[in-house]
Amino acid sequence: MTKPQIRPVTGARYSRIHGVGGYRPVRVVPNSEVLEWIDSSDEWIRTRSGIAERRWAGPDESVTEMSLHAAGKAIAQAGITPEQIGSVIVSTVSHFKQTPAVATEIAQRLGCGTAPAFDISAACAGFGYGLGLADGMIRGGNAEYVLVIGVERLSDLTDRSDRSTAFIFGDGAGAAIVGPSDTPGIGKLVWGSDGSKADLITQTEAWDTAFAKPDAVNGVGEELKWPALRMEGQPVFRWAVWEMAKVAQQALDAAGITADQLGAFIPHQANMRITDAMIKALKLPESVPVARDIAETGNTSAASIPLAMERMLQGGEAHSGDLALIIGFGAGLVYAAAVVTLP
Ligand SMILES: CC(C)(COP(=O)(O)OP(=O)(O)OC[C@H]1O[C@@H](n2cnc3c(N)ncnc32)[C@H](O)[C@@H]1OP(=O)(O)O)[C@@H](O)C(=O)NCCC(=O)NCCS
Repeated sequence: MTKPQIRPVTGARYSRIHGVGGYRPVRVVPNSEVLEWIDSSDEWIRTRSGIAERRWAGPDESVTEMSLHAAGKAIAQAGITPEQIGSVIVSTVSHFKQTPAVATEIAQRLGCGTAPAFDISAACAGFGYGLGLADGMIRGGNAEYVLVIGVERLSDLTDRSDRSTAFIFGDGAGAAIVGPSDTPGIGKLVWGSDGSKADLITQTEAWDTAFAKPDAVNGVGEELKWPALRMEGQPVFRWAVWEMAKVAQQALDAAGITADQLGAFIPHQANMRITDAMIKALKLPESVPVARDIAETGNTSAASIPLAMERMLQGGEAHSGDLALIIGFGAGLVYAAAVVTLP
């Protein structure tokens, strides 16, 4: 008797990004406001990080609401209906309800029917991780279109008294619709992690440790010190400049693309000096437009690449069909880079 065989699944041959959208909170926080919290100067912040201002979310601009705005724009650009979305992936480190995943509420409110929906935690590499998962689902036959969202309210995790991080982080959401394609639209993802460097960017303490303090439990006495993000700036800077330039080059090589063939370079918006060092290491020709969204947006972790991508496309700096090199890197440490065709 022949053994029963599982029916093979066939998906699309290739995938690509069909639409991208972003949401930037209304409130602009200029460097002058940051100077009310820390001993610094506008010039220091601009020259050391490239940041002039960032957006911080208000009470109505929740992770869910920001995601819905960004997703709506990506869906519209892709020209699909929410029912066609076969999965919703939300990458975030700043959604404070552990369960259920925020992705399920977003899927339901968008009208994605019973599409599988889940959250991932991959910090500033989150958009790339989501893109890789979406590509696999589409080519593996488990979804036709996938909504990938990167969303953060990092202001909630910012210690305003910490000179090394108070000026860096911002809030926002970026979304992309990934779907089938006749030609390759997402190159090989070069991704990875290095848990030996987990302490370089981390939450000051776990929620259970924070809440286990007697005063927090009783709600009396000293005010609970809300956990915040801590970063050892210099080692992170060195790692990003040396190791991530190599990863970006590997993504180019894996895609069979040379730097001069790019229509855009869209690195995670961590620090303008990191971007400039990568440009040098990659020998990126001056003719290739580079995302510099950090100046107005700060570091929005998982949201930074789709937000910067949307800005470049809307501003006419980059064009639909161009090739873009994207690279995300951050807490974990984690990273993900790929060459993609712009929607
Ligand atoms: C955070 C960062 C901008 C700090 O810059 P840096 O040059 O490394 O700063 P350092 O901590 O070495 O401090 C250098 C000097 O600036 C001072 N300084 C530190 N923070 C300051 C601030 N906010 N304002 C003014 N001066 C500051 C320090 O006291 C020190 O002064 P000294 O030389 O008199 O001792 C930088 O390390 C960085 O960008 N790291 C990578 C961060 C990043 O990209 N993270 C995201 C990854 S997802």
